[in-house]
Amino acid sequence: MHYCDPRSGLRAIIAIHHSRLGPALGGCRMFPYASDGDALTDVLRLSRGMTYKAALAGLPQGGGKSVILGDPSTEKTPEKMRALGRCVDQLGGRYIIAEDSGTTVEDMLLVSGVTQHVGGLADASARASGRSGDPSPATAYGTFVGIVAAVRHALRRDSLEGVRVAVQGLGNVGYRLCQLLHAAGAQLWVADTAPGRVARCVQALGATAVAVDDIHAQKVDVLAPCALGGVIHPGTLPRLRARIVAGAANNQLATPVMDAALRERGVLYAPDYVINAGGIIEIHHERIGYHEPAVRSHLERIGVTLTEIFRIADATDRPTAAVADAQAEAIFRAP
Ligand code: NAI
Repeated sequence: MHYCDPRSGLRAIIAIHHSRLGPALGGCRMFPYASDGDALTDVLRLSRGMTYKAALAGLPQGGGKSVILGDPSTEKTPEKMRALGRCVDQLGGRYIIAEDSGTTVEDMLLVSGVTQHVGGLADASARASGRSGDPSPATAYGTFVGIVAAVRHALRRDSLEGVRVAVQGLGNVGYRLCQLLHAAGAQLWVADTAPGRVARCVQALGATAVAVDDIHAQKVDVLAPCALGGVIHPGTLPRLRARIVAGAANNQLATPVMDAALRERGVLYAPDYVINAGGIIEIHHERIGYHEPAVRSHLERIGVTLTEIFRIADATDRPTAAVADAQAEAIFRAP
């Protein structure tokens, strides 16, 4: 659905890819797209990804996404957020909006003034557990659990003690992931375009700083991309020395064939939308009533799901991302 609100100047698209398992949940991205066509392509691709992510995260929901056309730093206004909220409300709960890049928890609070169909806002019980509505800690914990599963599968090690991990991107997810890895005894190599974030990791966690262009080429056990998409491409693949690629970034493979290429090189890839599902798992629990032990055990199932994907990939000699897609489709297409 395309929306145009002349009064606020809002231009937005909401895409619902699948809603048979439940309401379509997905964040709202605000970005200065070069064209309406680019925005449409992005929202369709992202909403499809949310269907796969929700299915393998064991959530009773489908996939959706929204985009606002515009620069979040100069063109975002409360009026636009409220206008978008009214669009969401018109859908009567078929789509649940949440924050994403270019939008914040504060924006979602504005949206929640006009519609109840908002995720990612901590309710009273979630706040009592110290949650703020920011999904990053849950994403970091889910990614950590996924790395533990990948290390167990590929390296036959039950502990991260002494395991070498290169983390690309030390933002909301990456830094928290580093803290968890450090506490578990892993050794860290880190890179970020923001020097202050690197310095914090070096000082607080004893990490080794690496140049941004070299982080994927470190002699480590695990490469954890936590910055950008498209990290694994024909230029980086030959330089990769890690046995495992497992991180939070979305769309880590520049092209689908990278999946098979990683397998050919003997690299175990933890499919991104499986390992980084912690955020939507937490949003789900915030909506049904936050109970910390239930959230934790749900996040830990990410490790179980990944282990099953790794096992099937080995048994059928298929790349892990292809196995994950097939598993997800079997769930959301089941009669
Ligand atoms: P963020 O914006 O807080 O952190 C990203 C970090 O990457 C920043 O510190 C930035 O300086 C750094 N960076 C940018 N370009 C870089 C480069 N070329 N090399 C090294 N570092 C670079 O983002 P956040 O929330 O930590 O998310 C990280 C990734 O995880 C993103 O791809 C995001 O889409 C994905 N993700 C995040 C979730 C969440 O709950 N925050 C949920 C699911 C996926």
